[in-house]
Amino acid sequence: MLKTVFANHEFENPFLNASGVHCMTTEELDELDHSSSGALITKSCTPLPRLGNPEPRYINLPTGSINSMGLPNKGFDYYLEYVTNTPYTKPCFFSISGMNTDENLDMLRRLAASSFNGITELNLSCPNVTGKTQLAYDFEQTERLLNQVFDSYQKPLGVKLPPYFDFAHFDEMAKILNQFPLTYVNAINSVGNGLVIDLDSEKVVIKPKDGFGGLGGPMIKATALANVRAFATRLKDDIQIIGTGGIATGQDAFEHLLCGATLLQVGTQLHKEGPAIFDRLTRELEAIMKQKGYATIDEFRGKVKSFS
Ligand code: DHB
Repeated sequence: MLKTVFANHEFENPFLNASGVHCMTTEELDELDHSSSGALITKSCTPLPRLGNPEPRYINLPTGSINSMGLPNKGFDYYLEYVTNTPYTKPCFFSISGMNTDENLDMLRRLAASSFNGITELNLSCPNVTGKTQLAYDFEQTERLLNQVFDSYQKPLGVKLPPYFDFAHFDEMAKILNQFPLTYVNAINSVGNGLVIDLDSEKVVIKPKDGFGGLGGPMIKATALANVRAFATRLKDDIQIIGTGGIATGQDAFEHLLCGATLLQVGTQLHKEGPAIFDRLTRELEAIMKQKGYATIDEFRGKVKSFS
């Protein structure tokens, strides 16, 4: 009932982890492979390992989460070794997030030369490295990078975007993305640079960046849905959409699909529940579809209604 075709791969269901959650180590990746998720994605990596920001750097909140991890990862080679040598049983995404253009192009060259036959996610939206702006908020630089990427990289590749909040920005970014043979666009990364304060201590709740960090979970669902919808209505048909942001229930998943998403990534709620969450999400999404009389996701994907 939930079977999904994406980038010429067959997925049992549309769910996978959002990069950054439960995918830093091969043990965690194996757990995702053995879960009911439809796919898995590795932690965004850099050419060399990084320790990331000081702790506390991830806090659960009643309405979601805030984090400023700072790109801790085990380095490109660790993840390449995993994705090329593990007999995993489902489609695999490889997330890269270089600190500059050269790092991104270097990692793409190495992926191109490898036997990796999954899908690459180029992260244009890490909000948590001190002194670095999110690439995808700089339209010119994004266009320049994508030109360089597609000059040589031939394997399937999508981009992870931050949220946008203005129709002019949806229009401008969609116009840039439509120039390239992208496999997909993933909307959205965390809502960057929120600030959460603890009443008793009168103190911020995470240590890096004086408490500023990316927001996730239910509090960002409406922004995520808006971005999925905005890109679904602006991108050419052969660019698919991954919906990420605020998916904690089957209903959230259904809403993302209605807005036009094909795959669905789960971050904050996976962090809270662990990989068993994929049993619940698939069960809840199927129950909603049955109740509404849908036999496949294709019957309602992208079909959210507006007034008149
Ligand atoms: C980190 C956070 C992100 O939202 C992202 O896209 C990449 C890295 C981090 O802080 O590690």
